[in-house]
Amino acid sequence: MKVNGMPMRTIWVSSDGQAVDIIDQTKLPFEFETVRLETVEEAAHAIFDMLVRGAPLIGATAAYGMALAMKSDPSDANLDHAYKVLFEARPTAVNLRWAIDEQKSILAPLSPEARFEAAWNRAREIADEDVAICSAIGDHGKDLIAAAFEKAGKSRPVNVLTHCNAGWLATVDWGTAIAPIYKAHEAGIPVHVWVDETRPRNQGASLTAWELGQHGIPHTVIVDNAGGHLMQHGKVDLCIVGTDRTTRTGDVCNKIGTYLKALAAHDNHVPFYVALPGPTIDWTLDDGFKIPIEERDETEVTWMNGMTSSGEVVGVRIAADGSKGGNPAFDVTPSRMVSKLITERGVCEASETGLRSLYPEQPEAWK
Ligand code: MRU
Repeated sequence: MKVNGMPMRTIWVSSDGQAVDIIDQTKLPFEFETVRLETVEEAAHAIFDMLVRGAPLIGATAAYGMALAMKSDPSDANLDHAYKVLFEARPTAVNLRWAIDEQKSILAPLSPEARFEAAWNRAREIADEDVAICSAIGDHGKDLIAAAFEKAGKSRPVNVLTHCNAGWLATVDWGTAIAPIYKAHEAGIPVHVWVDETRPRNQGASLTAWELGQHGIPHTVIVDNAGGHLMQHGKVDLCIVGTDRTTRTGDVCNKIGTYLKALAAHDNHVPFYVALPGPTIDWTLDDGFKIPIEERDETEVTWMNGMTSSGEVVGVRIAADGSKGGNPAFDVTPSRMVSKLITERGVCEASETGLRSLYPEQPEAWK
């Protein structure tokens, strides 16, 4: 996707080939800064402090983190250390575990001398695969937007509501929930996006709105509480969100507040779609309530960042001095509230039968 008209990914190998560069997403939308990651500790820190975030990008960064560890010390002990440091960075997005499991299974049988090159190559492949996966999600999801356009008599833009940021900033490129919107836009289907601000970290207002703006897609930022009202008044044709982990039975864990949007969509007969790449499915789990929910620091709730009219970026306290903040970062939407899942292999019911129809290679042993 593009920044100031220039095509970019969210993570790439540095020009000297010795490190990876990322966009520091904590600075957006006010400043566009890139950061160089040279060590596994820096990669884990970038994930924990959310310089990179979004399940697929967390996975790609973790894959590169394993490679950076093998560059400095390819021993068995450091392989275990790198796995542990990255595993502990954030608990909910299963792409992280998927990527480091993948790297460890490739690297462990190799001699230490062969590990860095193998890890680096696999990290590059994981990043490239994510781009292809997200592009395919976009193609399948675009058909749902096209159908909504037909249903509206092709008389007005399709109104899509999204929560958090599941756009290209959350992946290596294209995004998951936003990929269908980009593809629809490219195909000439008019789309308008209702962007939930997504408290407490405002990924919607800061990131989704910014990237939609970079691509000229009409959008409106709304407070998280507005979606239900808009649905009651027929102003939302469909919702599309991403996910950090989806069980094999189709329960969806995503940014806190997703569940409330699904409830409102259910009550108002608005289709509620979840876009996900294969590595976001946790085939070991049959119940969304078994997914670990990250609890983040209370200051993310009691403080906010913003830009003053004089252009200074500042943090301000918004809660009474002494009030505690509670900060569960994700919630679970039960499969019965999900209209369809949009994957790189097509669209399916949010159920074990639906997912297995698209991923028949998954072992029955998970049952
Ligand atoms: O806490 P974040 O910003 O990492 O949460 C991101 C989300 O909840 C996304 O919706 C999810 O990772 C899907 S990204 C394609």
